[in-house]
Amino acid sequence: MDKKKILFVCLGNICRSPSAEAVFRGMVEKEGLADRIEIDSAGLTDYHAGEPADERMQKHAQKRGYHLTSISRPVDPDVDFERYDMIIAMDNQNMRDLERLAEGTPAVNRIFKMTDFCSECPYDEVPDPYYGGDEGFELVLDLLEQACGGLLNFLKEQI
Ligand code: 4NP
Repeated sequence: MDKKKILFVCLGNICRSPSAEAVFRGMVEKEGLADRIEIDSAGLTDYHAGEPADERMQKHAQKRGYHLTSISRPVDPDVDFERYDMIIAMDNQNMRDLERLAEGTPAVNRIFKMTDFCSECPYDEVPDPYYGGDEGFELVLDLLEQACGGLLNFLKEQI
């Protein structure tokens, strides 16, 4: 059976989307669905291409038991917009950038926002933590844990 393929996207692919990847992978594995759901992440810039996740993000994630293993890469519209069933943006600017890149292609209908899967979140995006302090990284993880739960419920109805 075909896997559902999920791509998480943020600006640099070193903070939010690698965390989303790790949080969601943990949930998918716990539910025994690893063979049904493929997960990756990418950035809208190549500023950090080839780098591991931001050390501050890694430290906060590690405290909750998440190991961030992904290496930053930029979105490749030619490949990614064909391959992934869901392309999930972290914030409103990421949404706009992805929609612009996918304009006029079927992929526009496969772009979602992370917080749309979070019914209880008091935020309509996952804020960029890069220039802020510890609380921003904790907020990222709080929002991702909630939104990934909602995303998994959404996918379970389809697989
Ligand atoms: P991310 O965070 O988009 O969650 O990976 C950022 C990482 C790097 C930069 C901005 C945001 N930057 O400007 O280099």
